[in-house]
Amino acid sequence: MSVLEIRDLHARVEDTEILKGVNLTLESGEIHALMGPNGSGKSTLAYVIAGHPHYEVTQGDILVDGQSLLEMEADERCKAGVFLAFQYPVAVPGVSVANFLRTAVSNVRGYTAQAAQAEGKNATIGSNLMPMREFRKELTDKMKAYNVDPSFARRYLNDGFSGGEKKRTEVLQMAMLEPKFAILDESDSGLDIDALRVVADGINKLATQDRGFLMITHYQRLLNYVTPNKVSIFHGGRIVMTGGPEVAHMLEERGYGWVEKEFGPAKSSTQSAEAVAA
Ligand SMILES: Nc1ncnc2c1ncn2[C@@H]1O[C@H](COP(=O)(O)OP(=O)(O)OP(=O)(O)O)[C@@H](O)[C@H]1O
Ligand SMILES: [Mg+2]
Repeated sequence: MSVLEIRDLHARVEDTEILKGVNLTLESGEIHALMGPNGSGKSTLAYVIAGHPHYEVTQGDILVDGQSLLEMEADERCKAGVFLAFQYPVAVPGVSVANFLRTAVSNVRGYTAQAAQAEGKNATIGSNLMPMREFRKELTDKMKAYNVDPSFARRYLNDGFSGGEKKRTEVLQMAMLEPKFAILDESDSGLDIDALRVVADGINKLATQDRGFLMITHYQRLLNYVTPNKVSIFHGGRIVMTGGPEVAHMLEERGYGWVEKEFGPAKSSTQSAEAVAA
């Protein structure tokens, strides 16, 4: 069993503190839904876990099985078993889905590092790859299993993909990378009913006892298909409440107005007057 621990995490972007003491423990086998109003810092939390260089951690820690991620580069975090599906995935023209996945899988599974060690060199990402035939077979099988059209292997990553196609491709990425922890930022946004089912089916298939999910979502609709063990409300840069699936139903009924009344204004910005004037 593995555990992802976020301890009293504070982070800022430029002069603005966005995360203000996030505490969360995610164990393998758990599905934890994170819900909260726009601008409360949910995506920021996902970016900080993934190691986006734009965000500065000012306090606290993020640990996988006791090992801190903070000093690791994004690719090392990926190797440590953390996968992030972005709210707005970027297009990478010139890099096909198949090439991207072969490079990523080779890095995560250690092909790149092993081959480099054998030659007494430093591992360069993309240099030593999983054998093509083996990779192809696995990719084809998983595209079938996760309902991704085979033509996508040759297409440039996210380039001209519809919203739904991007989200399906993320599920495929997860299936290939087999992370210990997956953080999904609004994997349900922009999906039609059928695509929502495909994505939900994929998540359910991947939600095994040796994997934990943190699902950032705004609506109950994804949670109708993927049942969370825990639901937390994110507000003003931290988690203000954690419960079971009933919390999501309550939010659906009551909205966030009462959260604001109970826990203060939603805007997570505490930018100083001087910083604003500057
Ligand atoms: N690079 C940045 N520069 C300035 N402000 C930023 C930056 N990145 C994030 N913020 C601010 O941080 C706050 C939190 O943003 P974040 O994207 O984490 O919210 P969110 O909870 O994911 O919202 P949504 O539900 O709309 O996706 C917002 O007020 C946003 O404008
Ligand atoms: Mg967001």
